[in-house]
Amino acid sequence: MGPEIPLPADALVRLKDLINREFGEDSAVASVHQAGKGGNNANHVVVKMQKDGTHFGLKKPSRGAANGNDNEKLVADLAVCLGIPNACPVVQTKEIDFIPAFSGQTVNVIRWLPNPKTLDELTPDQKKAMSAAKGKGSFYFRMGEWMAFGLMFGVRDRANDGNWAVDSNDLDCVVMIDLEEALGGPGQFADYSWLRDYVDLTQAKEQRFKYRPLRLFCQGYFTLWKKFVAREKEVREKLHQHSFAAGFQCEYMTKKPDVVLRDFLGLLCN
Ligand SMILES: Nc1ncnc2c1ncn2[C@@H]1O[C@H](COP(=O)(O)OP(=O)(O)O)[C@@H](O)[C@H]1O
Ligand SMILES: [Mg+2]
Repeated sequence: MGPEIPLPADALVRLKDLINREFGEDSAVASVHQAGKGGNNANHVVVKMQKDGTHFGLKKPSRGAANGNDNEKLVADLAVCLGIPNACPVVQTKEIDFIPAFSGQTVNVIRWLPNPKTLDELTPDQKKAMSAAKGKGSFYFRMGEWMAFGLMFGVRDRANDGNWAVDSNDLDCVVMIDLEEALGGPGQFADYSWLRDYVDLTQAKEQRFKYRPLRLFCQGYFTLWKKFVAREKEVREKLHQHSFAAGFQCEYMTKKPDVVLRDFLGLLCN
């Protein structure tokens, strides 16, 4: 987290009211800081709530990604609609006139994963120690869901492991963050090749999908794809609300998961 941004008491109350109203929170604001990280840092502020570990980001993507602001909101809505555990919801507002960079602007208010740590902050040992024992709660199952989602909606900038967060009290609880580049085409396998750091490659090569982390990863991928098929109508309605996303199609929406996963394993084990 970056340096604190001092704000007058009435601004802190307005911020608290906005967050409590939109996210059903019941907590005062403890302090407001520059995000301190990322290409959008100049337009990215983090609100630390008094309730332990709870943070909200105020972000106006400004790096020039096409429709960055609305992508970040829409992709978050899709992740919530598809019920991906811990997906971080986004609300848009024009009310934040007490922070000069946001005055008159549409800003995304993002509920952060609690106690966040990004994957680039993990040690090699922590990466290898991800649990593969908890089924749906495992890192690998969750990454399978997120990769299906990312490929399907063309979420880019995924190779940057600062764009994935875990709760430092639950390292398996991985979520995709920073969603401003998306919906311009299919996602890319290469964006996920860092998953190599999280598996034992010898076992992956020898046992393939019998190797438990990879088996869980596949189950996660299948689960999300099946949810998409079941909720496609709702997803399409959300896409149709934006001219830049209406009618978005992508090969991963229809490609059979076993074909995608076999090809991905080929890349991972190469
Ligand atoms: N939803 C979130 N949950 C937890 N931490 C987050 C979340 N969103 C952003 N962060 C933190 O803020 C940093 C910058 O956010 P990010 O959205 O990646 O901005 P940028 O577009 O500038 O790269 C991340 O690396 C992470 O540390
Ligand atoms: Mg980022």
